[in-house]
Amino acid sequence: MTTRVPVIVTEAEMAAQRESERRIAALSARPQTYHVVTYGCQMNAHDSEKIAGMLEAMGMTPAAEREAADFVIFNTCCVRDNAERRALGNVTWLKEIRRERPEMMIAVCGCMIQEPGMAERILKQYPFVDLAFGTANLHRFPSLLERVLITGERVVSVEGEDVIAEEVPVRRLRSDAAYLTIMYGCDNFCSYCIVPYVRGRERSRRMADILREAEALREGGVKEIMLLGQNVNSYRGEDGSDFPALLRAVDALGIERIRFMTSHPKDLSDGLIAAMADCRHVLPQFHLPVQAGNDEILRRMNRHYTRAEYLAKVRALREAVPGIGLTTDLIVAFPGETEAQFEDTLSLVDEVGYDSAFTFIYSPRTGTAAAKMPDQIAPEVATERIQRLIALQEKRQREMMARFVGQEEDVLAEGLSRRSDRQVSGKGGHGVSITFPGSAADIGQTIRVRITGQKNNTLSAERCGETL
Ligand code: SAH
Ligand code: SF4
Ligand code: F3S
Repeated sequence: MTTRVPVIVTEAEMAAQRESERRIAALSARPQTYHVVTYGCQMNAHDSEKIAGMLEAMGMTPAAEREAADFVIFNTCCVRDNAERRALGNVTWLKEIRRERPEMMIAVCGCMIQEPGMAERILKQYPFVDLAFGTANLHRFPSLLERVLITGERVVSVEGEDVIAEEVPVRRLRSDAAYLTIMYGCDNFCSYCIVPYVRGRERSRRMADILREAEALREGGVKEIMLLGQNVNSYRGEDGSDFPALLRAVDALGIERIRFMTSHPKDLSDGLIAAMADCRHVLPQFHLPVQAGNDEILRRMNRHYTRAEYLAKVRALREAVPGIGLTTDLIVAFPGETEAQFEDTLSLVDEVGYDSAFTFIYSPRTGTAAAKMPDQIAPEVATERIQRLIALQEKRQREMMARFVGQEEDVLAEGLSRRSDRQVSGKGGHGVSITFPGSAADIGQTIRVRITGQKNNTLSAERCGETL
């Protein structure tokens, strides 16, 4: 195995970006307010927090709604066709608004821009877009924007190395819970997936940088952190330390709640299972995407594990952390999937009993291996399969939720319940949503509750006593 040392953007280059921010802040003719529209996964949500951080360093403030903003930024996803269509549809819709407010600026960024040919397409078909930049150039956003503002030209920037940029300003959406990226990119090349093409090669941040950021978050009063990476199990620190070692080190900092995602089943080690059991602050929950329950489909997906291996890891996790909350991702109608192979996915879902699952219809992505495979499944067959899968998962989820009734959980109160302002809701340690009596004053607090009932997929609870 060769070890590649990831390229870290130099301090001089980062300082140049901060200079651009200061110069933009001093410009009189610049947007005053911004709005970031985010699609996709947690990586994108966190990138949007960095975009907002950079914009605020340029002196801009958030606009309440996008129609009113001077500058609208679309942070796009392209993992499935519908994600891409939604993003492009909304950009087109903004064109109408810009007719009324010609001074409005529009930028498009994120994974979709990193697709081959997409930047040119945006330039041609969306003449009202001022700036387009890919994930590789996120840290260069200030200098790119400065170019647009000074020259009045439209700027497109997709070329870029797979680098790590430290010390990008961040404007976090929540003050009680925070994302913390530990690694970027993906080298797994699952045959259906576009992420390795748009997020580049796997690269890990230095452990010291991660721990410093985690400590700063703790000092800032953050109660929960989520360690982020496309495959956190591939984490390799500068001294060779692996993900379990990192998890133990973060746990030792004393942050109240620690979560992480995503874990690839092929790399889920005994060491990680042991760390899960030992670490006091790591929550008893695990997102372990299985994708399919049939060995032949898993092989053609390039997942590198069998159904039996996956089930053995689930058993080991449950033994080490009794009652652990388990969630997954599932794809139906992968090319060539037969009815019998699909039924293997159903039987796996039935056997495991997930606390929740994200279910997707396979969506061909240009450039991936699966897009060229024969026997793409007809849409009506795919729809029928996903409906059966969702029905089974909902039934199993209700059955699984029942185990929590009567138990106590610590909930980090996220907000008022949608139904009543005398109820608050948040996630328990197992990752399940729980609603209980409370008020706005509880938001951001960890509260001990006793679960009293279950309705569909949410749990209701009563407070046990004093706020922690
Ligand atoms: N790195 C993570 C997340 C990848 S994207 C992981 O490996 O789990 C999140 C989910 O989107 C995947 O788990 C998969 O279920 C789904 N997905 C990815 N590409 C897809 C495609 N082409 N069609 C349908 N679903 C897809
Ligand atoms: Fe995509 Fe597979 Fe990488 Fe996840 S592990 S991002 S599914 S290629
Ligand atoms: Fe995430 Fe979508 Fe990109 S799932 S990594 S935002 S393609």
